[in-house]
Amino acid sequence: MNIHESLQLLGGLSPQTFMRRHWQKKPLVIRQAIPGFKPPLDRTDLLDLAAQEEVQSRLVVQENAGGARPWRFKHGPFNRKALPPFKQPGWTLLVQGVDLLDQRVHALMNQFRFVPDARLDDVMVSYASDGGGVGPHFDSYDVFLLQAHGQRRWRIGRQKDLSLQPDMPLKILAHFEPEMELVLDAGDMLYLPPRYAHDGVAVGECMTYSIGFRAPSRAELAGELMQRLAEDAADAVGDSLYADRTQVALAQTGEIPESLVAFARKALEDALCDPLALQRVLGEYLTEPKAHVIFDTRMVDCEGDGLEGALVLDRRTRMAYDAQHVFINGESFLASGRDAESMRLLADERNLGAAKVKRLSAPARDLVQDWLEAGWIHGEQ
Ligand code: SIN
Ligand code: CO
Repeated sequence: MNIHESLQLLGGLSPQTFMRRHWQKKPLVIRQAIPGFKPPLDRTDLLDLAAQEEVQSRLVVQENAGGARPWRFKHGPFNRKALPPFKQPGWTLLVQGVDLLDQRVHALMNQFRFVPDARLDDVMVSYASDGGGVGPHFDSYDVFLLQAHGQRRWRIGRQKDLSLQPDMPLKILAHFEPEMELVLDAGDMLYLPPRYAHDGVAVGECMTYSIGFRAPSRAELAGELMQRLAEDAADAVGDSLYADRTQVALAQTGEIPESLVAFARKALEDALCDPLALQRVLGEYLTEPKAHVIFDTRMVDCEGDGLEGALVLDRRTRMAYDAQHVFINGESFLASGRDAESMRLLADERNLGAAKVKRLSAPARDLVQDWLEAGWIHGEQ
């Protein structure tokens, strides 16, 4: 992508300018970000997805708006009969991870690949009957809210008080103070940075696509990475038990032995002693496929050295790289030279031309063969 080119998608800003001025800083309203946008999925398609066991869906129903508990919340899957009638106002159905389920939605998400893939999360699609919404709230992550069908009235505000109403089944701000109100038509889009208060209410029935991002927390990363580092170290040097052949008898036994503290410290140091270990486990973690993702494995009727034609990543595949590694779906490979160059191109472009495939080394072709069989990549049609 040319990051210096002005994009209609970003209201005439280039990705570079958008990132500098708005990303994580301030909202942007983009009229006709995608002119004449026709949503790839209609409400029947969305309802079909919400009926599937392995698809994450939620239903929010607003009842007796003046009452004490006006919000009802349920996790899917939902049969059509479990959902309110379309004519009933005030309900919304939200389906997560639609980019993994539909190639056209995946292609839509790819338009936002001026942000690192490691930050891109998913596309959530919502259907709302008239007046439907999820109430005033804030999200912890950046989001582009693309109006896909009908109209939605947004009220937004940059408030400090993010306290929530107690005893609600979903996160509803206790004191919402909107600063701005706007109505989005199909094709319009609103970018919101994390923790920006917002409330979107359907004006007539509507559908909204949320292109969402992810950001790991320090605690989540530290926990995940330490666990992986410890497992890798145990695989590399073997595990061992604390031993204390020289332990003397004690009259007072409450104190933790110094040698046990040293043993713990050494265990942590050993887990980090491989200089590439941290990058390796980070890349593996960041490219771990989403829960519920199952690839279609298949037999490929040629050996690695018979590979022909271009390759394309499956839409569910996560691929990334750093200076030493290539990562794909939670696995890491050391790569250098021309192979590394081609693998990085595959990660960036999500496809690799036939000429580049031909120039892969024999071991790299064998890997690609494995990935084809695993359903992680496909021969381009
Ligand atoms: C929705 O699509 O109804 C909710 C989107 C949001 O407010 O984050
Ligand atoms: Co939100």
